[in-house]
Amino acid sequence: MESPFKADALKGKVALLTGGGSGIGFEISTQFGNHGASIAIMGRRKNVLDDAVSSLRSLGIPAVGFEGDVRKKEDAQRVVEATVKHFGKLDILVNGAAGNFLVSAEDLSPNGFKTVMDIDSVGTFTMCHEALPYLKKGGPGRTSSSGGFILNISATLHYTASWYQIHVSAAKAAVDATTRNLALEWGTDYDIRVNGIAPGPIGDTPGMSKLVPEEINNNVREDMPLYKLGTRWDIAMAAVYLASDAGKYVNGSILPVDGGLWLSKPRHLPKDAVKRFSRSVENRSRAKPDGVPTSKL
Ligand code: COA
Repeated sequence: MESPFKADALKGKVALLTGGGSGIGFEISTQFGNHGASIAIMGRRKNVLDDAVSSLRSLGIPAVGFEGDVRKKEDAQRVVEATVKHFGKLDILVNGAAGNFLVSAEDLSPNGFKTVMDIDSVGTFTMCHEALPYLKKGGPGRTSSSGGFILNISATLHYTASWYQIHVSAAKAAVDATTRNLALEWGTDYDIRVNGIAPGPIGDTPGMSKLVPEEINNNVREDMPLYKLGTRWDIAMAAVYLASDAGKYVNGSILPVDGGLWLSKPRHLPKDAVKRFSRSVENRSRAKPDGVPTSKL
């Protein structure tokens, strides 16, 4: 689908994306590149990085891949520095690296819980911390008069509670808290905007294949308010909006892009049934109110 944004919306920007080699992260890499940005991708798997980089280059997007694990501070530091060395500066950091699997709280080991916290929450903070010197207003290589931009990808799981996702819910809650607190501190001190996107169920992603595996005969489309899954494109367009000047006054926001799913409740009555008997129920209740005490006096 064609982008509604101008092709130069991110012209001259340099973006580093963790988890930018597959799924939603790769689509953000592609769309940022299509809108003028140069792309550095950080990931653990060399073959995924290589495929992603050659795919981006085939579209004419300047791209480079760096192997690294966001759980390791030295990797975070090395990759941020390598990005700046390669492209001369850093304008945008996207924290998309995440770990997930379905497991009941009872069957989850504390180390399993910690593993996801380490990737999602601590990893996000580590990357932000290492990128700070380059993203702040006046940082090395920055020509713009403003600071850079951070985008943290979270989820809507923790808005309520989610089955078999206690580890990810806790981790994403921490990511959202990190987004808001950095927006407050680094927005004020360094003119860096920090925002989040909370994707809902997005088709054709590693997340969906892990959380709604083919073994489950699921009805996910039927339960969606818009009766459809989101696409990676939907998330990438939200990212382009937030990263571009269109979002220049948006800071500390976490944008759910889930078709309204997290708000949804099952519909117990068909709409035409409500229309049919709503008035008669109302009239009956006025004629003979329920629960109002009657007096013999
Ligand atoms: N159910 C229960 N526990 C699990 C599990 C599962 N499906 N998968 C892993 N664990 C536990 C392990 O048992 C281990 O805990 P233990 O030491 O107490 O036994 C802990 O998690 C770490 O597992 P390990 O395999 O050593 O971690 P890893 O660093 O190799 O992999 C994961 C990290 C588990 C998050 C892995 O799924 C991953 O790399 N994910 C990235 C891709 C991804 O999930 N994408 C989806 C994004 S939405």
